Amino acid sequence: MKKLIIANWKMNPQGLKEARRIFSEIKKVASRMPRVETIICPPCVYLSLFGDSISKRRLNLRLGAQNVFWENPSAGGGAYTGEISAQMLKNLNVKYVIIGHSERRKYLGETDEMINKKIKNALNNNLKVIFCIGEQERDIEGSYLYFIKNEIEAGLKNIPRKLFKNLIIAYEPIWAINKKGKDADKPEDVFQISIYIRRVLLGIMGKELSRSIPILYGGSVEPENAENILKEGGVQGFLVGHASLVPRDFNKILKIAQSVK
Ligand code: 13P
Repeated sequence: MKKLIIANWKMNPQGLKEARRIFSEIKKVASRMPRVETIICPPCVYLSLFGDSISKRRLNLRLGAQNVFWENPSAGGGAYTGEISAQMLKNLNVKYVIIGHSERRKYLGETDEMINKKIKNALNNNLKVIFCIGEQERDIEGSYLYFIKNEIEAGLKNIPRKLFKNLIIAYEPIWAINKKGKDADKPEDVFQISIYIRRVLLGIMGKELSRSIPILYGGSVEPENAENILKEGGVQGFLVGHASLVPRDFNKILKIAQSVK
């Protein structure tokens, strides 16, 4: 399985010129990494800038969105002010979408139910879904494990099994996000949780499918910690925030992913 390294630019950068610069510097390196699929998720206002330049298969570079609405225009004549449909994304050559990010849960009030509807609709529209989960804190009693299980089960509720081939899980413990240089999760803990997540998936979709779902780690991934987490964490890649805006750092992470067996 190829490693998946996903850049989540969040609400950055503020201008087109800077977006183009970051994109082209990453593209130069990403296109030379045959064992890595690099996915750049810029704010939606920049998606149309990049759609054409990544259409070639051999580039190993794909576009992702940071959000998508749960309805298709047919359901309400497109009367959903401010929202973006799966079809609009596909028309811009977008293949992936992030759903359930903790920042959207926190600041936009996205609930498990909304996230479930978004996942269902995105998968139905043939987008690959990067479904984010992760606990606020890791208590010694272990109730965070129930929290993670509930998040996964609620997000995937009543979704036909055949759609899971396009699912990716991104485990992002909230306490480890945006810590810049410290406090990423420890590789051995990521390993334990990746096994736990796979067990939860097993209960939902059975052995074969659950084995095929990529599990990624996110939360202060940087060039300094990427290698150990990738080697020992049992994950197939990363969802990278702040380091994905610094091409030198992100490209180092890509090279590490290319070199780790
Ligand atoms: P940081 O890499 O900045 O911690 O962000 C992680 C994240 O939220 C990616 O989706």
